[in-house]
Amino acid sequence: MFRIIILLSLINLLSLSTSGNSLYKSGNDKVKDSVTFVSRFESDNIRCFKCHGQEKYEYTNETVGKQVRDMMCSERIIPKKEFYASNHRSFSCTDCHSEQYVKFPHSGELRMEQKFNCIDCHGGDEKFAKYHFEEIVTEYQKSTHFKMEDEGFSCWKCHNPHTYKITVRNSTNLKETIAYDNAICLNCHSDYSRFQLLSDKAEINIIQKHEWLPNQALHFANVRCIECHTKYDNNIPVSHQIMPKGDAVRLCNECHSKNSILMASLYKFESKEHRRYGFFNGIILNASYVIGANRNEYLNLLSLVIFFGVIIIIALHIIFRIREINKNK
Ligand code: HEC
Ligand code: HEC
Ligand code: HEC
Ligand code: HEC
Ligand code: HEC
Ligand code: HEC
Ligand code: HEC
Repeated sequence: MFRIIILLSLINLLSLSTSGNSLYKSGNDKVKDSVTFVSRFESDNIRCFKCHGQEKYEYTNETVGKQVRDMMCSERIIPKKEFYASNHRSFSCTDCHSEQYVKFPHSGELRMEQKFNCIDCHGGDEKFAKYHFEEIVTEYQKSTHFKMEDEGFSCWKCHNPHTYKITVRNSTNLKETIAYDNAICLNCHSDYSRFQLLSDKAEINIIQKHEWLPNQALHFANVRCIECHTKYDNNIPVSHQIMPKGDAVRLCNECHSKNSILMASLYKFESKEHRRYGFFNGIILNASYVIGANRNEYLNLLSLVIFFGVIIIIALHIIFRIREINKNK
């Protein structure tokens, strides 16, 4: 556990996070847009935030006519700033939750409340076509986590309903994006309590399991878990098929090579301009040095020309020598 903490703080340092958030909070939110955003449901949501927005809440116990103060458990705290920076910031709490939650104590039956799925709202909608929701659902159903659906696994487990925001698509800071996306996985994979809600497996020590990877902290700050653990799919912007562990990427040159898989995943949204002509791996070179990536097609061609040029000269030389020998006979 201690080593995990060290590693995580290292990742945090390396990620040069300017937001000052801990890795566990899934919100390296650009605070700017939460400041300018004003929800039409601000006053509606205050009804919930007054209890769910912080660690303490208050209510009147009507039976004894007293004000009571209590602690809100951390899993039920919704950071207001992160909510108003998230994809679904324009929502009212009661768009997704029953209106009856206004009452406290909440009715026990509400616990059985059916929740919407992503696809209930996003399916078949032109406006969201570029995200390929339908294909993502298909991939998710093939992923290794899907078998835990009955235990409660769902899209919401990685996409926190109150804080999730798209990152890699609009990324201006790749390191922050990597830290954000990895925090999604580490939310369970470095927190055994969350993990145990879904599985009876013994704790998986992530650091130990990746000991074969040199410079682990550096790698985890520069690539995402999904780079190695998902099956690459050209049709979907973010691949969602987490493969069984045996199929994870292990070969160094899958990344450290000219045809790095990172070009199709992590660097996918980077400007196409960067990829054309000459040093087409310029992105990798700029963002981070990757061994073997710094090749130039023209230089490659030139070396071939020189190589064959030399062969031809040697061949000509031999031919002339043979002729000369024959002449002298
Ligand atoms: C007076 C304080 C208070 C207010 C106001 C309040 N809640 Fe709660 N809420 C709680 C507490 C305490 C719990 C945990 C205990 C429980 O489940 O009753 C909780 C639990 C919940 C849960 C989780 C239930 C579960 O399945 O475990 C949801 C969802 C929820 N509240 C939504 C809301 C929404 C939406 C609003 C606003 C419309 C709201 N709450 C307003 C105090 C409050
Ligand atoms: C886009 C839909 C959506 C909106 C908007 C939304 N919630 Fe939720 N909320 C959910 C879902 C889905 C879950 C169950 C998450 C899960 O199963 O992991 C949930 C769970 C909860 C819980 C239980 C604790 C937890 O995180 O699992 C509380 C408390 C809660 N919501 C309160 C609120 C409050 C307060 C607001 C408004 C500020 C709000 N929700 C807005 C979808 C939403
Ligand atoms: C209750 C309906 C509803 C549910 C459930 C829902 N969404 Fe949304 N989502 C929306 C709407 C409506 C918007 C547009 C919000 C806006 O423009 O302010 C949106 C916005 C988004 C965006 C940003 C799109 C953009 O172009 O800005 C993403 C990404 C997204 N949702 C992903 C998801 C994911 C992933 C899930 C499930 C984990 C999900 N949504 C669940 C209704 C929903
Ligand atoms: C195991 C974790 C995990 C699960 C489960 C998961 N996602 Fe994702 N999803 C991610 C990560 C990581 C990203 C990248 C986030 C980013 O940087 O924007 C992502 C991104 C997305 C995006 C945005 C892609 C884009 O083009 O910008 C959508 C839409 C999405 N997921 C939908 C879903 C839906 C629908 C489900 C359920 C069927 C789901 N996800 C389940 C981890 C997950
Ligand atoms: C460079 C590629 C790479 C990266 C990056 C990577 N992994 Fe892995 N991971 C692997 C390989 C390969 C294995 C299989 C190891 C084995 O067979 O023992 C593995 C194994 C695992 C396992 C299964 C362990 C077990 O024995 O049950 C989990 C869980 C896991 N990784 C999670 C993660 C998480 C979370 C991250 C991000 C913080 C991550 N991985 C980043 C390549 C990677
Ligand atoms: C909500 C919690 C949760 C989240 C979030 C989560 N996982 Fe898992 N993951 C689990 C659990 C629980 C298991 C163990 C499943 C089992 O019992 O075999 C698991 C298993 C795995 C395995 C091992 C599969 C095998 O073959 O044994 C890999 C690899 C993995 N997860 C990668 C990831 C990656 C990558 C992410 C982020 C994109 C992620 N997980 C996010 C809970 C989670
Ligand atoms: C998923 C892609 C991926 C895989 C697989 C991978 N690496 Fe890396 N590696 C990277 C990236 C990206 C960096 C860039 C880090 C940086 O900014 O210097 C890196 C950096 C390094 C560095 C440090 C270079 C420096 O500038 O200090 C070494 C050494 C290294 N990798 C060796 C390996 C070895 C050995 C393997 C196989 C066991 C491996 N890597 C597998 C992506 C990968």
